[in-house]
Amino acid sequence: MIADGVTRRGILGGGVAVASIALGASPAGALLQAGATRAEGQPIPNGLELPTTTPPPRRLDSVGFAIVGLGNYALRQMMPRFSDAERAHISAIVSGNPEKLARVGDAYGVPEDARYSYETFADIASDDRTDAVYIVLPSGLHADWTNRAFEAGKHVLCEKPMALSSAECESMIAASRRADRKLMIAYRSHFEPHNLEAMELMAQGAVGELRLLRTEQSYRMGPTSPSENWRANRALAGGGPLEDLGIYGLQAALYLTREMPESITATTLQPANDPRFAEIFAQVSSQWRFPSGAVAQLATSYDSAGINMVEARGTTGALIMNPATGYSGQTLTLAGSERREINPGDPRVQFARQLDHLADVIRDDAPIRAPGEMGLRDVRLIEAIYASAAAGQTMRLKPDGTII
Ligand SMILES: NC(=O)c1ccc[n+]([C@@H]2O[C@H](COP(=O)([O-])OP(=O)(O)OC[C@H]3O[C@@H](n4cnc5c(N)ncnc54)[C@H](OP(=O)(O)O)[C@@H]3O)[C@@H](O)[C@H]2O)c1
Repeated sequence: MIADGVTRRGILGGGVAVASIALGASPAGALLQAGATRAEGQPIPNGLELPTTTPPPRRLDSVGFAIVGLGNYALRQMMPRFSDAERAHISAIVSGNPEKLARVGDAYGVPEDARYSYETFADIASDDRTDAVYIVLPSGLHADWTNRAFEAGKHVLCEKPMALSSAECESMIAASRRADRKLMIAYRSHFEPHNLEAMELMAQGAVGELRLLRTEQSYRMGPTSPSENWRANRALAGGGPLEDLGIYGLQAALYLTREMPESITATTLQPANDPRFAEIFAQVSSQWRFPSGAVAQLATSYDSAGINMVEARGTTGALIMNPATGYSGQTLTLAGSERREINPGDPRVQFARQLDHLADVIRDDAPIRAPGEMGLRDVRLIEAIYASAAAGQTMRLKPDGTII
C-alpha cells in the first residue's frame, strides 16, 4: 500500500523526513456526503503479533471495555496498551471475522461468551462484564455503532473523527443523553505529555502574542482504490486525509490557541484519473482567522512526503513540535531568546491514560476531557472547510463552528 517508504504508521509513529507540500490548482469537489455502509469482517493484519502472556490482575473497580473492530489500530496499538492501564481492561471483543475473534480472544484471555460478531452485538446489553464500548471501526460506521452501544446501555469511547457529518455527531450526543451514558472521543493527544506541556506553555504566553500557527499532517498513500481500502472510500472515510490525519492539526490549532476561528478559507486537491482519489481528496488546506487576529494554516495530504508538525509563532518566540501527534517520538522546542528542547515524558503513556481517564469519568463522574461536543465542534469545522473549498469563498463562522 505504500509507494515511497513513508508509511502512515511512520507518520503517526513519528521520526519521518520533513518535506514541503506543493499546492496544485484545486478543483474543489462538492460538499461531501457520507453514505451508509455495513460493518464487515476483514482479514487478520499481516505480521500481527499477539500477546503470549496473560493479562495482569485487575482492580475491583476496573472498567471493562468491549473492542469493536479488530483492525490495525485496535490490534497493534490500543489492545496491547491495556496492560499499562490502572483501571481499564478488555472485557469483550467484536469482529466480523470468526478466525480473528478466536485467535485474538485466546491471546487476550477474553471468555468465549464475550466474543461477539456484528450480528450478535446487541446481546452485549445483558453482559455486565462490559461497561464501555470502544468503537475502532472505519469512520463512516462510528455513528451507527456508537448509537447501538448506547442502545445496549454501555458507555462509549469513539475513535476520531467522531463521525462524517455534524448531523451524525448530534445523533450520537442525543443517544448518549437518552441512555444516560458517557461519550468520549479518542483524542489521545489530550493525554500525551508533549501536547499537554505545549497547551500549558501557550496558556502561559510562552510565545508572546500568537501570530501564526501552522500544522501539517501528510504521507503518501500507495496504490489503492475505494473498493480495496476504506480510507479511499467516501462513505467510510469522508473527504479522506483531513478526517484521518489533518484532524490532529485541527485539534492542535484549537487546543493551542484556545480560540474558535471566526472565518475559514480552504482549498482541496482531487487529481483526475488516480484510483486513490476517485472518491476522496488528495490534499486539503485551510487558513483560519481567529478573533485575536492570529491566523492558522492547516495542510494535510495523502499524496506528499511524510510530515507531522505543529508550529506556533508569536511576538516573542515559537513553539515547535515535530513530530507533533504520533504514537511516539514527539519533540517539543521552545525557540525565543534561547532555544530549549523540552521532554516532559514518554509519549506512549497517552494510550493507557486515555483509557484510565474514561474509567475515572465512569466511576467518579470526572469531567470528560474530550467529550462528544468537542468531536461535534471539530466535524463542524471540517464541514466549513469543505464548504469553503467547494464554494471558492471564505466561510464566516459562529462561535460554535456553524457557518453563518
Ligand atoms: N487515534 C489514533 O491514533 C488512530 C490511529 C489509527 C486509526 N484510528 C481510527 O481507528 C479506526 C480504525 O482504523 P484502523 O486503522 O484500525 O482501520 P483498519 O486497520 O482498516 O481496521 C478496521 C477494522 O474495522 C472492521 N470493519 C468493519 N466493517 C468494515 C468495513 N466495511 N471496512 C473495513 N473495515 C471494517 C474490521 O474489523 P473486523 O475484521 O474485526 O470486523 C477492520 O479490521 C478509524 O476510525 C481510524 O480513524 C485512530
